[in-house]
Order: sequence, then structure tokens, then C-alpha cells
Amino acid sequence: MTISIIDKTCQFVEEKLAGEGSGHDWWHIYRVWNLAKNIAGQEEANLKIVELSALLHDIADWKFHDGDETMGPKMARQFLLNNQVEREVIDPVIEIIASISYKGAGVPTPMKTLEGEVVQDADRLDAIGAMGIARTFAYGGHKNRLMYHPDEPPVMHQSFEEYKKNKGHTINHFHEKLLLLKDRMNTTSALRLAEGRHQFMQAYLDQFYEEWDGKA
Ligand code: NI
Repeated sequence: MTISIIDKTCQFVEEKLAGEGSGHDWWHIYRVWNLAKNIAGQEEANLKIVELSALLHDIADWKFHDGDETMGPKMARQFLLNNQVEREVIDPVIEIIASISYKGAGVPTPMKTLEGEVVQDADRLDAIGAMGIARTFAYGGHKNRLMYHPDEPPVMHQSFEEYKKNKGHTINHFHEKLLLLKDRMNTTSALRLAEGRHQFMQAYLDQFYEEWDGKA
């Protein structure tokens, strides 16, 4: 029996990310993969490129490799070459993985292909809404960050270097990234999904501040 490249990639990624406790675990990949398939169908993007990019996009995130952004693309390329994937697929997949990340409030991150736009949207959808709230606090706990500090306002980072050094509390992350993602969606299919998730986060934050001050 031959195993499909998609199944093989799932196995590879699941093994690599086992024990990940910061919200970038296999189930993040699984959700992004499903969102990406959903959006790709509506946008008529190339499914093989979309699925492989979605599955491999966090294989070695810079956040966990001392800020090294070249590690993920290198590992993904090696895996795809080892599995005889054709170059016309490998090149766009690697290009997507290398450019997908958020780099700060003031830093544009355009994608070169429709497939890249779809996968970036899917990854960003999993960063907002109920899922985004859960992942953001999981990440903050992993980094020993405060949930909130009323005297520390958000910072709108104007460079990736500045954004990478950020050590602020978790609520700031909503203002520095999560609440900005809706307006950065590339595709209309993703924007539709982003709207509900955005409203949910906004309502959550309103309640959070009210409870913080003992008013709710
Ligand atoms: Ni991701």
C-alpha cells in the first residue's frame, strides 16, 4: 500500500511537534490545515501546495529557535526532497513557509501567490477568536508572562527585530497583533470567518477589563 504524501507529512509533523505546549502543537496544524482546505476550495487555489504548506508551516518556528527564521524552510525542503515531491510544488511551498509569519503591527507581510494568501489567512484565523484567546494565554504562560498589567500600554512594533524582542503581557498581544488580523485577511472567504472571531475577542476583552476593575 502506498501512503499519500499528505498522510506522510501529517505523520512527520505530528512526530516533530509532539509535546509542544505553547499553542503551536499538532492540533494547531490540524486546524490550520482544515481551514486552509476550506478556504482553498472557495478561492480555487492549488490544493497540494496549500495542504503541504499548511502542514509544514510551523515545523521550526523562529519563536522556538532563537529567532532563526531559516530553520523551518530548510527542514521542510529536506523532507519534501526526501519524499520525491516535484520541484514545481516544493519551491512555492518553501516560499510560503518562509514568508507566512506576522512580523509586527507596522510591518507588511504580503504573500506572492494565491496559495500563500490562503495559508497565511488560515494560520491567522487560528490566532483569533476562541482559539486565539486560548493559544495566546497558553503561549504567555509558556513564556512566564503576566496576563495583564494596567500600566503597560501596547506597543505598535515597526520592525520584525523589535517585535521579536517583545516581552509584554498577554493582553497587549491582542492589541499588537490579534485585533489587527481581521483587516489583514487576504481572501474574502477568510474575511467572512474572521469577522465572527474578531467580534468574539472584542467581547471577551470588554468583559476582561470589566472584571479586572471589579465592575462585572
Ligand atoms: Ni502557525
